[in-house]
Amino acid sequence: MLEREELFARQVGEDTDIVAKELYRFADRDGTQLCLRPEATVPTLRARAAAGNLGAGTVRVWYFGAMFRRERPQRGRYRQFHQFGAEAVGSLSPLLDAEIIMLCARIWRELGVADKLELQVNNLGSADERAAYRKLLQQHLRTRTDDLDEAARARLETNPLRILDSKDEDTLAALADAPEMAEVLGPASRKHVDDVVAMIEDCGVKAIWNPRLVRGLDYYGLTVFEWALPGDERRQSAVAGGGRYDSLAAQIGAADAPGVGFAAGVERLLELADLAVEEQADAYLAVADGAIEPADALRLCESLRNAGLSVIEDLKGGKMKALFRRADQSKASLAVVIGTREAAAKAATIKHLRCSLDQREVGQGDLPAAVKEMLSSGAAATNR
Ligand code: HAM
Repeated sequence: MLEREELFARQVGEDTDIVAKELYRFADRDGTQLCLRPEATVPTLRARAAAGNLGAGTVRVWYFGAMFRRERPQRGRYRQFHQFGAEAVGSLSPLLDAEIIMLCARIWRELGVADKLELQVNNLGSADERAAYRKLLQQHLRTRTDDLDEAARARLETNPLRILDSKDEDTLAALADAPEMAEVLGPASRKHVDDVVAMIEDCGVKAIWNPRLVRGLDYYGLTVFEWALPGDERRQSAVAGGGRYDSLAAQIGAADAPGVGFAAGVERLLELADLAVEEQADAYLAVADGAIEPADALRLCESLRNAGLSVIEDLKGGKMKALFRRADQSKASLAVVIGTREAAAKAATIKHLRCSLDQREVGQGDLPAAVKEMLSSGAAATNR
């Protein structure tokens, strides 16, 4: 989570928000300038170089962890958030860009959010083409400075491409007749991203071209993409983004190696996926007031857990009726209840909560075997 500050300044871009405004930076005791990592692509390349480049072939790695950006906190935008991502380093083939995008699509399907998300793609060309486009865009916008908002005016000389994703209406109007990146792209750049899009569409993933998609980090060339909610909801709703970064490894002083990858925001995905955490368990164990000691109840729970069963232990006590009611409200399959009568007989009552099969009373020593047996008879009954 901690990196040397210098690792990010140049690579992510001195003029990007992520470095200029949002990097948490501070001096270590010996004066070394450290920072909290704002993203993991640059650290991945740093780690790869430190590990001797991990061999000569294409390296595919993944990560999951906390990232930090000093943003204005709001819904879906946090100062500490989590990303998972994957990077494929060592090949210029558009196949890898396509593979990364298909990996995202597969994850969205597994999470049940594929229908909610839209894929936008753009082609940022080569370094030379970007420099040429930068000039064209500057020339155009210098004739329209009156329409530009403060942020866009500040970026006009330092990072004009970032003006393209402005949300300001007047700035957008000034951009309406601006030249497009596509005008400066040579055949090789065109072919690379066209090939990527053809491959993913062949695999059933639809890509929408967005000539304004520039991303918030400066290390990209050729393919860039974002997954977000469609239409107006898109603002601030990107759940994942990525692209190709062929000169980044060399820039951090590592062996030159092209790469492509993505990162997804876990908090944003969770909100979208609406994954309810259900208290599903095999057994709900409840003990009536004064029936057995807490230590004995814990030992019974542990005997069930040792047998591989999941158990929710009810700590509230009360009368038998209340125990069964709470067990019914749980998401468990069986209630295991001990009242004073069961306690005296060193027994427990096991009741099915998901089907109408008969309840049973068993000796406490036989609980694990009896619970397992009733789970399978219950499963058979509900599948019928
Ligand atoms: P990024 O677009 O800056 O890309 O971040 C990726 C995702 O992280 C975003 O789409 C969003 O879901 C989530 N995210 C970013 N900032 C926040 C925040 N403040 N709060 C909550 N979620 C946030 C990168 O970080 C690149 N490293 C992606 C990449 C990998 N490019 C190539 N390889």
